[in-house]
Amino acid sequence: MSNKLDGIRKDVTTCTRCELSKSRINAVPGSGDANSKVVFIGEAPGRNEDLQGSPFVGTAGKILSEALSYAGFTRDDIYITNVVKCRPPNNRRPNKQETNSCKSHLQSELEIICPKVICILGNTAFGSLLDGNAITKNRGKIIKRDDQLYFVTVHPAAIIYNPDLRQVLKDDLKALSNILDKIKKGISIELDK
Ligand code: URA
Repeated sequence: MSNKLDGIRKDVTTCTRCELSKSRINAVPGSGDANSKVVFIGEAPGRNEDLQGSPFVGTAGKILSEALSYAGFTRDDIYITNVVKCRPPNNRRPNKQETNSCKSHLQSELEIICPKVICILGNTAFGSLLDGNAITKNRGKIIKRDDQLYFVTVHPAAIIYNPDLRQVLKDDLKALSNILDKIKKGISIELDK
């Protein structure tokens, strides 16, 4: 991992900007390849992530890893992070104040990595990054905002409650992989609104 990301890791693990820092066991910085062409962004750490200090290492992480490998990605060649870096008590959704306090950590990660595409996992990331909602209606879309491409898909944890979404996530990540291939080859891609 690059030295610059090490700096962010330190900022995240010592952060006390919001109340979540008081209840956390570990803050959870992003993890993966600083040179990745794609950054996956979830909501916030859950219990296992809080215990281990790494993102997506619990049940949702297993589901994500399965969909990633189906689409031809490995966790080592991508970067995964969350909107909020500390676990909200009882896995509640992070509130606006917590999301805002954490925003600059995410911005710093994105400024260093400069991904070709940001993959939004679920409604919290969709709301926070693109002011979006209704993920199931908008999933599969590729959206350009301020010169940055975003790909929108469901949160892996949603599959725990709705198993039909397992294949949806897999197919979406396969579509994302095809988009990245096209970008690499300089082939133009069709954007959604
Ligand atoms: N859910 C998330 O959004 N992020 C994690 O790291 C784990 C579960």
